[in-house]
Amino acid sequence: MKHIPPVITIDGPSGSGKGTVSYLLAKALGWHLLDSGALYRVLAYAAQRAGVLENQSALLHLAETLEVQCGKDDQRKTARILLNDEDVTDAIRAEEVGKNASKIAVLEDVRLALIERQRAFRLSPGLVADGRDMGTTIFPDAPLKIYLTASPEERARRRYGQLLAKNVDVRLADLLKEIEARDQRDQKRTASPLKAAKDAILIDTTDLSIEEVMERIRAELKRAFNGAVDFQ
Ligand code: C5P
Repeated sequence: MKHIPPVITIDGPSGSGKGTVSYLLAKALGWHLLDSGALYRVLAYAAQRAGVLENQSALLHLAETLEVQCGKDDQRKTARILLNDEDVTDAIRAEEVGKNASKIAVLEDVRLALIERQRAFRLSPGLVADGRDMGTTIFPDAPLKIYLTASPEERARRRYGQLLAKNVDVRLADLLKEIEARDQRDQKRTASPLKAAKDAILIDTTDLSIEEVMERIRAELKRAFNGAVDFQ
């Protein structure tokens, strides 16, 4: 029988901690990492650069032909993203790219064009997949599905802290508004809306440290894989 590599899905809204948690988990297990949000961001970024954000057929062509790689950035403890061998890890984090990514993510054809590309990351010894619809649409057979949440206020505070550290001048109230608008777009769209899979484990990270979240996930991991998968 063909061996299908295992996958752990980590879904949730932005600021829930899933980027860091997914990186740490993939690193600890020695598994591959897919930051699916980065795929939408890279597509938005490439479309912005080519001036085709509003042109659906050009956008689709880009979605089908983009050369994207997703590795691990051990310094920043996130995914490292390469577009045609160019490191775009920082460039795709710009607020404008995030906003455009969330706009193109409502287009059904764009989402379809990215499905097989995402599934191709499922390689031995295993994959940690971070996103919005990893457990519901892309890897519905994943043996472990985690859904991370946190209050919008806490997510805005986390984002504010990250931007302050980068000397970016923003207002907390504006960030909160932006986060709420993005949540609305992600939850209300008809194509693969943001929601927990029925069999996902829900973890509210509002009052938890990253270490506490990792401990919770470790316990779930041992249960889901009958002790066969673990990390220190
Ligand atoms: O997670 P991140 O903020 O990088 O994702 C950028 C945008 O891409 C999200 O706001 C969401 O609209 C979209 N996205 C998605 N499905 C995914 C991952 C991200 O629609 N699996």
